[in-house]
Amino acid sequence: MKILALGDIVGPKSVEELGKKLWNYRKENKIDFVVANGENASRGNGLDPDSAQNILDYGVDVITSGNHIWQKNALRDFLDSNKNIVRPVNFPSTSAGNGYTVVDCMGYKILVINVSGTIYMESLSCPFEAVERVLEKENGRYDISILDVHAEATSEKYALARCFDGKINVIFGTHTHVPTADNQVLPGGTGYITDLGMCGPKNSILGVKSEIIIEKLRTKMPVRFEFDDENIVFSGAVFDIDVDNFGKVTVNSVKRAEF
Ligand SMILES: [Fe+2]
Repeated sequence: MKILALGDIVGPKSVEELGKKLWNYRKENKIDFVVANGENASRGNGLDPDSAQNILDYGVDVITSGNHIWQKNALRDFLDSNKNIVRPVNFPSTSAGNGYTVVDCMGYKILVINVSGTIYMESLSCPFEAVERVLEKENGRYDISILDVHAEATSEKYALARCFDGKINVIFGTHTHVPTADNQVLPGGTGYITDLGMCGPKNSILGVKSEIIIEKLRTKMPVRFEFDDENIVFSGAVFDIDVDNFGKVTVNSVKRAEF
């Protein structure tokens, strides 16, 4: 089975391009399951229900998210009613939506968990304990497990990966929009990469027109963010995995993907 994980989808133009490219990419590369971070897919960050539905229609099986997920009020009902979208599991239990989901693919049950880091991020509850609670609660109810660590600090992402190495099959980081070169199978068998990068305009700074960010950093004055719409590139990783007759999951490889 091949699982494609895509980094943060930034802006409506990237969603539109996803619609033109993803089904072809899935077909050409024999991808069975796609998970993508969608928290910045709408104009002005956040995610609105129409964009979320488009992303799912365009070939993403589960949308993960992060700290910007609450920016569009209208998404809250969608989060509650749709099992193919998750928000970080370590938000308070009173938050809309779910922190994990179990979906079917090729006769397997796939558990997808989303967690937020807490270093240089919002002070949410402990990500380690939050993920542990999900694994305990869902024990025996899934075949394959995936974790999106939406976090700023590489150390926190790697610590979570080492903590759950061998307990979760696929772990990847999102949020920085910059891909890392440490795709690997960890000693315990977990497929891992610290950050998938961005699905968005290649020459932008995190999706925003470069000159606007440079002005902000040089002058320290408030600026209006404008998405760059040119040269949309999709960045992520492909996890090649096998499940044997006894249900044992083996991750064969983790390869960077860009298209
Ligand atoms: Fe984020």
